Amino acid sequence: MIRFDHSSAHTFLEPDALQKAFEQAKTAFGKVQSKTGHGPEWLGWRDILSDPNDALLSEVDSLAQSIRNDADVFIVCGIGGSYLGARAVIDALTPHFGAGKGPEIIYAGHHMSGTYLRDLMNYLKAPKADGSPKSVYVNVISKSGTTTETALAFRVIRKWIHETYDDAKKRIVCTTSQSGGALNKLIDANDYKKFVLPDDVGGRFSVLTPVGLLPIAVAGVDIRNLFYGAVSAYNEIEKNPDDLLTYASTRLALYNSGKAMDMIASFEPELGGMGGWMQQLFGESEGKNGKGMFPVLLGFSTDLHSVGQMVQEGQRNMMETFLVVDNAPKAIIVEEEDGDTDGLNYLAGKSFHEINSKAYLGTREAHVEGGVPCISIHFDKLDEEHVGRFIYLCEIAIAVYVYCLDENPFDQPGVEAYKKAMFRLLGKPGA
Ligand code: PA5
Repeated sequence: MIRFDHSSAHTFLEPDALQKAFEQAKTAFGKVQSKTGHGPEWLGWRDILSDPNDALLSEVDSLAQSIRNDADVFIVCGIGGSYLGARAVIDALTPHFGAGKGPEIIYAGHHMSGTYLRDLMNYLKAPKADGSPKSVYVNVISKSGTTTETALAFRVIRKWIHETYDDAKKRIVCTTSQSGGALNKLIDANDYKKFVLPDDVGGRFSVLTPVGLLPIAVAGVDIRNLFYGAVSAYNEIEKNPDDLLTYASTRLALYNSGKAMDMIASFEPELGGMGGWMQQLFGESEGKNGKGMFPVLLGFSTDLHSVGQMVQEGQRNMMETFLVVDNAPKAIIVEEEDGDTDGLNYLAGKSFHEINSKAYLGTREAHVEGGVPCISIHFDKLDEEHVGRFIYLCEIAIAVYVYCLDENPFDQPGVEAYKKAMFRLLGKPGA
């Protein structure tokens, strides 16, 4: 299960403010359910869970397994909501080092660094340790089919794949909207395999569609358990939304009390990607018309030695959300050492997980004492089911919270501003 602990945050809030926020969240949840709030045409991320498409899951999984059997490298080419969800799940559920049996997953199209792309192309061209050439596949993911970062990287990778492999066509898989966009023209011209991202699902809400599911399955993660974890959370919340509403309303009451930043922190580096996905989901959904909290991603205890001073004693305009794994593998146990020269024998017999847990508890205690309200989101354990549950929880929580701000959680008009200026500087026709 996923469990929320709001106890320390609630000590910073008046009961009346909390109650008022809870009632607001309840009304907002009703609007999501009845599709009567802002952007009702973007609620497809709920419909896919209320009516699961098992045939699609099987189709994605079967292509992923054949890619796993043949590929050395699988490139995920996308930006924002088109890759962050996949990366989050892959980081959370696959080992930190070594790709295991499956292909190495590499990300591209998520920025426009020529150095990165040059190095990537050199890496793809270099033979394996046994001298044989690498087998490379790419999944280009772009709902609009026109995003410059993704389209530019794909142009370079696609050309190389066509020049290098006789079976180039099968090595290129596209995920995009049903129609429109330059990517659909390329698909039609080359007969590439295509998965569709439904029109009613926005990029950052798309991880449980083929956008996220194909890369996640290629990485060896069980997408059925992931998807059905989210389905379970959906069904449970429809019946009893109280935990969700308490989370959304606590966050709302903290925002109303003047908090301007939500620091998303974890002591487990494998949850860094999940925090990054949450950062985008929350940031793009709530940052509108001068409203919303800035979501900041922190990796502890590393960042306690970087911005810990600021969290403890800087401006008191921040709240903190901890992502906690209760039952992580015990893994390494600290051994007793003769002489105790490094003074660490007091930890002998304890697992790193136990020590890390105390670091979390100590940090939370210190931050609360320093005036930072904290919410903890506990994963009972880190597996497909819990990650699936967490994904839906975050999606529904931000939708409810942003409805409370009287904004549309599903658009991102502000993202166009940098593109407009960039296109003018690049001399794009019509810009
Ligand atoms: O959440 C969103 O909608 C955005 O982050 C998009 O995913 C991102 O801008 C990429 O867009 P596209 O998939 O059209 O290339």
